Amino acid sequence: MPITILIGAQWGDEGKGRVVDWLAAQADIVARYAGGDNAGHTVALDGEVYKLHLIPSGILHSDVISIMGNGMVINPVNLVSEITPERLVISSRAHIITPAHVALDKARELALGDAKIGTTLRGIGPAYLDKTGRAGIRTGDMLLDVEEFAERLIAAVEISNEDLRARELDTLDAQAAAQSYLDAAEFLRPYIQDVSIYLHKALKAGKSVVCEGAQGTLLDIDHGSYHFVTSSSPTAGGALTGLGVGPLYVDRVLGVAKAFSTRVGGGPMPTELDGAIAEHFRGSGANFWDEFGTTTGRPRRCGWLDVVMLRYAVSVNGLSELMLTKMDILSGLNELKLATAYQIDGERHEYPPVTNEQLERAKPIYETMPGWREDISNCRSFGDLPAAAQDYIERIAELCDLPIDMVSVGPERDQLVMKTANAASPASAKAM
Ligand code: GDP
Ligand code: IMO
Ligand code: MG
Repeated sequence: MPITILIGAQWGDEGKGRVVDWLAAQADIVARYAGGDNAGHTVALDGEVYKLHLIPSGILHSDVISIMGNGMVINPVNLVSEITPERLVISSRAHIITPAHVALDKARELALGDAKIGTTLRGIGPAYLDKTGRAGIRTGDMLLDVEEFAERLIAAVEISNEDLRARELDTLDAQAAAQSYLDAAEFLRPYIQDVSIYLHKALKAGKSVVCEGAQGTLLDIDHGSYHFVTSSSPTAGGALTGLGVGPLYVDRVLGVAKAFSTRVGGGPMPTELDGAIAEHFRGSGANFWDEFGTTTGRPRRCGWLDVVMLRYAVSVNGLSELMLTKMDILSGLNELKLATAYQIDGERHEYPPVTNEQLERAKPIYETMPGWREDISNCRSFGDLPAAAQDYIERIAELCDLPIDMVSVGPERDQLVMKTANAASPASAKAM
């Protein structure tokens, strides 16, 4: 099985990190292909909680190579603070987030006022803007001699300073900004190489690769609810361009969705709830898995599972399978609702409409299913789950026309429920 692409099927935070950690047990390489430190991927292992922003989530397996692809935007200073550099390969073609990008992200959000996107303020949008505007600097530039890299960095900061000046905001001291980046560059230099060629050789040698998506389908720059999106391509296609690999190696596209919906930041969310059910989903913040942003700490907006969006994610990513996380959180609710379609201006829609104006007017058409009261966090086989939980999973699979062979019932590595033998425990799969 050469390439498995794992994507978020909703608005991010689906639990991708923990699923990648599980898949990594069967893989040689885990490669992130998009986004930057706007991501926050949580992996819980033996009571320890790891919150990863840039480093791929296979890092907790000592025999797995971690790759950061060209589709990413990397803040080198933040990467150094997170790094465990053994077994790390950084693309020479990824773009660098400068301090000016971070300042511009804040400035743009401020200028948008109530219409702000609610970004993570990590400089993501401005960095991708410079990339597509052909004005960015890249990780490969860190391989240049120090003076040359410093010159490029200072020039890039000066260009952004013009924008800040035009907005009557404080500009950055380009020289000072450059220094911390030079130190980071020095540290990162040995890990930088051509990832596409690295992967090509690895795949030819029979190695298996898990491509780790960040963000989610509905935050995709092309396919999400534009302009309330991120600036990269978190969908399956992004894995190919974001790593420089060909499509013929891909034989599995796994979508990860939470058993309910969450979104952080602005933009339409048709099934969003207020009140007791939303509180139930979100939690109080006392547990690390409660719905508060891993990167920003913001409370996440919560609602019923939106199958319209899932159906769209199946289509946009060409999913071969779907998995559901956080099933344990549904315990204790009398009934559960699934949004199976929207009503917009009197018409039924099976897929999301293109404009946010229409999406804001979308009234979910709900199907109600019985809930269950049992704690399911110790269930380890499909048959252990209460009948109502099994029915909930089967109904979602039916509505999405896709198998759901795996669900998670807690954040720890072993809190997974497999339906079929091919989703065997990672340890035994690796031994085979
Ligand atoms: P990611 O960005 O997609 O990797 O997801 P996040 O890490 O931002 O958010 C998912 C949160 O849910 C994390 O705190 C995970 O530890 C937690 N989580 C994942 N799967 C489960 C599960 O099955 N049950 C519970 N209770 N928590 C889970
Ligand atoms: P993971 O990988 C959830 C959201 C932000 C904002 C929009 C644009 O942990 O699932 P940006 O900073 O990217 O310009 O913000 O995208 N966003 C995420 N939401 N999970 C993420 O990553 C996100 N990364 C960005 O909240 O609405
Ligand atoms: Mg997250």
